[in-house]
Amino acid sequence: MKVRPLPPFVVNKIYAGEVIQSPSSVVKELIENSIDAGATSIAVFVRGSGLSFIKVVDNGEGISKEDLPNVIKKNWSSKIRTLEDLERISTMGFRGEALHSIASVSRMHIRSSTDGVEGYEIYVEGGNLMDMRPCACGKGTTVIVEDLFFNVPVRRRFLSSSRSESTRIKNTWLNYVLSHENIEFHLRSSNKIQHYRARETLDERIEDIYGVKEKRELKEEDLTITLYHINGKAQKIFVNRRPVVDSRITEILGRYDIKNYVLFIEVPPALIDVNVHPQKLQVRFSRSLKFYDRLSRFIRGRKTIIRMEENLFTRRDEKDSTGKKEEGVFDWKEYIVVPSKTKILFVHRQRALKKILESDIVSRKRLPSITLPVPMPIKFRINESDRSLLKTYGFDIVELDKATVLKGIPEIMEGATPEEVLEVLSAFSDRKGPFDLKKFVNRLLSIASRHYRMNSRTIVEKLFSMENPALTSEGEVIIYELPAEKIEEKFM
Ligand SMILES: Nc1ncnc2c1ncn2[C@@H]1O[C@H](COP(=O)(O)OP(=O)(O)O)[C@@H](O)[C@H]1O
Ligand SMILES: [Mg+2]
Repeated sequence: MKVRPLPPFVVNKIYAGEVIQSPSSVVKELIENSIDAGATSIAVFVRGSGLSFIKVVDNGEGISKEDLPNVIKKNWSSKIRTLEDLERISTMGFRGEALHSIASVSRMHIRSSTDGVEGYEIYVEGGNLMDMRPCACGKGTTVIVEDLFFNVPVRRRFLSSSRSESTRIKNTWLNYVLSHENIEFHLRSSNKIQHYRARETLDERIEDIYGVKEKRELKEEDLTITLYHINGKAQKIFVNRRPVVDSRITEILGRYDIKNYVLFIEVPPALIDVNVHPQKLQVRFSRSLKFYDRLSRFIRGRKTIIRMEENLFTRRDEKDSTGKKEEGVFDWKEYIVVPSKTKILFVHRQRALKKILESDIVSRKRLPSITLPVPMPIKFRINESDRSLLKTYGFDIVELDKATVLKGIPEIMEGATPEEVLEVLSAFSDRKGPFDLKKFVNRLLSIASRHYRMNSRTIVEKLFSMENPALTSEGEVIIYELPAEKIEEKFM
């Protein structure tokens, strides 16, 4: 058989099928465009299952007269200019396919004005621009999609029932309501009207929709996780405010019996790839982020935190008479002192750190290493298999003709003295019998915890999110508790 290029109208329909699978995908793409246009109000109107009629109205920046005929062209977009843009995408859309795809499989009107004075309307049928004329319209854009898949009968036949499609549309709409609290949203579908007014905070928006039982947050430089346990029945996951499906996340939450939730994950755009799924329903996290490990650790910490929160942190959100937030944690000698309503805790700083570092390294495959400014000679030889083991702990050792040289040490040991480094490595010096890994790791952690810098509040929070905060794995005491009664007794 002879190969030949597929005719363009066939190609267009194939591609359209990837992006636009049902009326709810039209709703998704149009809402995303309105968000990208900076709209503060978005209204969606749907008839029945949406096959015959969908309309999305926004008050965003609008489309100029020159651009209007181009927005339906394949891969025409205003959002990406350079390859760097693609690597740090901050808009919902970026491929310039949605309007083109929708246009190819429907009859579509777009009305738009950039200033609320002059406006234009185009009419497109099965991808062909049929008409363009001035129209009276306010600032913003209105897109009307009629007779979806009129020219793709196969797709029409495979669509699910009208009822389940309108549920899907509502769900899609709700995803954006949940994740864009500053925007006012309307939905009118099968004569039901729903409306959410613009809110200042995400907390208020989630409260409006489901009611929040509890909120937990992790805030780190390159990762923020906000988990809402909700009263309603829903499982929603957002990455940089983009609704996603991620079976590994679902599995992790399931493992800890978290059933109804809204989860927001915020990461620097350069550390995720959103361009891995035609409808952008999946993202890929950069490996350096170690995202899933950190998520499970965060979730795992929950039971203890909640229990502790009742007594330890009750004062955290209370304000004193001057309106300042109580900090409540301070350093004294080698301890962190944590006062609460019912007791004062003394936390042994170095041991707490050791425990935190320990739990951190067990979840890692290898420890990051820092290069020493000047390589350090070592007096004894270290065999090859030991060297590769040491490498996983962040020690970079090379064996030269006559000498053994240390070029890098674990990042967590930054600040250690040469003697301390040798002390850790001495486990390998006169090694004859089996190697005591536990002892080696313990030494490594003891020394790392002398130098590792972490602020006291973070130490306390991390410690209390662990299973057994009171003792190190070696059984050393980390916390001493002084109950209020004990103190009060003295004043009787
Ligand atoms: N509601 C809207 N308001 C303003 N401009 C829009 C709107 N919808 C689409 N556009 C313009 O049309 C272009 C093409 O849209 P689309 O096909 O969804 O591609 P993408 O969103 O990937 O850029 C966008 O880049 C944008 O410039
Ligand atoms: Mg788009």
